Amino acid sequence: MKSGFKILAIESSCDETSCAVVIDGRVCLSNIVSSQIDIHTRFGGVVPEVASRNHVMAIDNVVNLALTEAKVNLKDIDAIAVTYGAGLIGSLLVGVSYAKGLAYATKKPLIAVNHIYGHIASNYLTYKDLQPPFICLLVSGGHTAIIKVTDYNHHEIIGSTLDDAVGECFDKVARVLGLGYPGGPKVSKCAESGKADIEFVKHADNLGLNFSFSGKKTAVINYIHRLEQAGKPLPVNDICASFEHWVVDELVGKTINACKINKMNKVVLAGGVSANKRLRTLLAAKCKENGIECFVPELNFCTDNAAMIGSAAYYAYLAGIGIADLTLAPNPSLSL
Ligand code: KG4
Ligand code: ZN
Repeated sequence: MKSGFKILAIESSCDETSCAVVIDGRVCLSNIVSSQIDIHTRFGGVVPEVASRNHVMAIDNVVNLALTEAKVNLKDIDAIAVTYGAGLIGSLLVGVSYAKGLAYATKKPLIAVNHIYGHIASNYLTYKDLQPPFICLLVSGGHTAIIKVTDYNHHEIIGSTLDDAVGECFDKVARVLGLGYPGGPKVSKCAESGKADIEFVKHADNLGLNFSFSGKKTAVINYIHRLEQAGKPLPVNDICASFEHWVVDELVGKTINACKINKMNKVVLAGGVSANKRLRTLLAAKCKENGIECFVPELNFCTDNAAMIGSAAYYAYLAGIGIADLTLAPNPSLSL
């Protein structure tokens, strides 16, 4: 394939409408993200119907802005890529329908991308020379997994959550503490000025490389309720710090174990929770201690964005996979 292959990518799986122009899977010319956080904040979480209606209103402007910022015209684009799952059905439908219309009108190839492959690819945009194989710790609002990435398009889940995703757990703890939505960054901010000295009720972990977060969430919520019932003040910052340490220590510990078991010396972090400062720092430190190379995505590419979809699309297209036609339908529960 010629070099300088330009992909216009669209992402609308949850509450961010995003469009990007990416060259050869590695260079991001533009990455416009229109967030609906302000709209959903008053409901304490994403309302799917509201999200899809706002995608409809935003998408055309977002695509035009991405082209303008990249200083390219539609005719310079070589292919259109879009997230077709996993995510909210109404939200996905907006991006998929728009991308199909654009591909049809411009007679350009259409590439269907798995949102999770996109998160992993956010690292290819950050590190121009990074190549598989590696171990990926994927941490988002919908997924938590340790993935063995053997090639750009070959992923094997070697550990995953048996219940809640870690981002979901951050969001629930934030909600109970009244910190608002999205909870991850808010819990993390409070944790910075807290002491991680609270011992929540813990159970022995015999899950190997798998995770369970619902018990942790319940332990924290029960602790909060007990203090409230006793009329005691809530040490919000200490609760956040103790929770964050608990969860991050486990994520990092299991990722290092996964490297040892699989004899891999490269770790890549991906997904919205990869914006978490403590996770980024501890993973880097533990990797260094164990002689493992560590890659964490640039902050812009951590939470949902279209540039990561453009990168994943490039590698799928190179391998001749993911090429879609007008029958493409969103798949809200698409797995890896
Ligand atoms: O990947 P993402 O943008 O959306 C999904 O694909 O799910 O991840 C969103 C999740 C939310 O749960 C949010 O609270 C969490 O990532 N998050 C964080 C941080 N920033 C975002 N969690 C912990 N610390 C952060 N700094
Ligand atoms: Zn995501």
